[in-house]
Amino acid sequence: MTNIKIILGSTRDNRLGEKVFSWVVNEASKNPNINVEGIDLKEYNIPFFNLAMNPTYMDNPGYTGDLEKLSKKINEADGFIFVMPEYNHGYTGVLKNMIDTFYNEWRLKPATFVSYGGISGGIRAVEQLRLVLIELQMIPIRSSVHIPLIFTQIDDKGLLKEETKEAAHLDATIEDIEWWAKTLKEPRESRLKN
Ligand SMILES: Cc1cc2nc3c(=O)[nH]c(=O)nc-3n(C[C@H](O)[C@H](O)[C@H](O)COP(=O)(O)O)c2cc1C
Repeated sequence: MTNIKIILGSTRDNRLGEKVFSWVVNEASKNPNINVEGIDLKEYNIPFFNLAMNPTYMDNPGYTGDLEKLSKKINEADGFIFVMPEYNHGYTGVLKNMIDTFYNEWRLKPATFVSYGGISGGIRAVEQLRLVLIELQMIPIRSSVHIPLIFTQIDDKGLLKEETKEAAHLDATIEDIEWWAKTLKEPRESRLKN
């Protein structure tokens, strides 16, 4: 089985991200080829980056507590879906802080994105994140989902509207990330052993 972790990159009170996140986790869970786990960054105490060394050059940075928990979860992953809003034409600070905190955990793994925001649907944030992930030796894939005007896409029950979900074609993106994650798993594991 391929392990896909879905990371929610917004932690503010009243975030709309929760609604997008639960839809993505739910849809991905329907795919019989993947083990899915949602990671809500709000549930972890992640300090502003304060390691004495750059994790890029450390085999074992000695994480404890929530960082150790998070490190294990990222390690288990074969691929990622970042559920993320756009803040001031970029991606969120919580996401950058969390990404910088780890290195080996991310290496040689593919990632895709379900973004949301105003008119741009979070595209600018995703394009920036793609550049950053390359430095972590990750593979940002082409397929992704972008939801514009997120504040108009919530129904009376407080859930993402059915027509919004249908228009998004999330299933194709999930299939793609599953393919990349599965395809890279064995070569990654053998390269990291050496
Ligand atoms: C600090 C801040 C900056 C924002 N900047 C942008 C922006 O540059 N582009 C955009 O499309 N939406 C922007 N928005 C709107 C958000 O995309 C929208 O509020 C979304 O719901 C935020 O995600 P969240 O509710 O999960 O935090 C901004 C929102 C916040 C809070």
